[in-house]
Amino acid sequence: MTRLTLRRPDDWHLHLRDGAMLEAVLPETARHFARAIIMPNLVPPVVTGADAAAYRDRILAALPEGMDFAPLMTLYLTEDTDPEDMAAAHAAGLVTAVKLYPAGATTNSASGVRDIAKVASVLGKMAEIGLPLCIHGEVTTPEVDIFDREKVFIDTVLEPLRHRLPELKVTLEHITTSDGIEYVTEAQGDIAGTITTHHLMINRNHMLVGGIRPHYYCLPVAKRSTHQQALRRAATSGNPRFFLGTDSAPHTDPNKESECGCAGVFSATNTMSCLAHVFEEEGALDKLEGFTSLFGPARYGLPPNEATITLEKRATAIPYPEKIDTGEGPVTLFDPGHPLYWVVV
Ligand code: NCD
Ligand code: ZN
Repeated sequence: MTRLTLRRPDDWHLHLRDGAMLEAVLPETARHFARAIIMPNLVPPVVTGADAAAYRDRILAALPEGMDFAPLMTLYLTEDTDPEDMAAAHAAGLVTAVKLYPAGATTNSASGVRDIAKVASVLGKMAEIGLPLCIHGEVTTPEVDIFDREKVFIDTVLEPLRHRLPELKVTLEHITTSDGIEYVTEAQGDIAGTITTHHLMINRNHMLVGGIRPHYYCLPVAKRSTHQQALRRAATSGNPRFFLGTDSAPHTDPNKESECGCAGVFSATNTMSCLAHVFEEEGALDKLEGFTSLFGPARYGLPPNEATITLEKRATAIPYPEKIDTGEGPVTLFDPGHPLYWVVV
């Protein structure tokens, strides 16, 4: 097969930032994706309905003329989140989900949740009104090894939470372990999981063997190859509980290539080429549309996009820029480590 037409994809986990960075990275996503769940981890975070409305307006103002893209906004859950403000923003159609960051888990998560008991009433309200919770599923306990943080989160936070509130709709985001895949596959109730492009293509060896590669550092951190294989099997399985959330997360090169480099992989530009490559390697090109364009909308109760995109497989490798320029500095594009032959035409 050398030509593939899919419904336009959506990205169910995306960082667009703000200001000059937003202006530079938004077209990279909007070129291929019709909608995206927009992460609220700005500084300061998007906490209230008014914050989300203002951020949505800044995104739409930054969208180049003629591009068709709808941001699906999220609120950043804090221990002070007002359940009534949240419910009003949901009722107004302004927010699609609420994001739980354990405090300190990742970039700009200092305002996140320290004690999940403190957000019990907000979570109860979400279950009542059917507002989904997107979860960064890692514990931050210093004693827990960084490679074990996802599994420990599932066992000690997620499972007890879902036991207490079985009606809550949960998306376990950017799954990096076979434990996460097993949990989402087997759990009862309303649960789904997103998988990033980069976690399908790299494991921790790519990041650490032969020199440390800061542009592969993200959170949750890439795990060993057996976990990567489990992610690839899940993404290409056709199980509607698993769909794409790129977690494309731009940081400028000086912020990545530093003594204490930021977590985040920027993959918006070449994600569709990368995914076609992975799905072809797995003999599953027929499953790509479900993963990128059908299962996410079904999960969020939205219709799939009517428009389509077409991918073609070329005989020679597709040139992608090594970096994109932004008003804040260069941002390095995810390097899949292989030539890519599939291109959106
Ligand atoms: C994200 C960022 O840079 O905002 N970084 C990352 O490594 N994924 C935050 C996040 O989603 O964890
Ligand atoms: Zn993210």
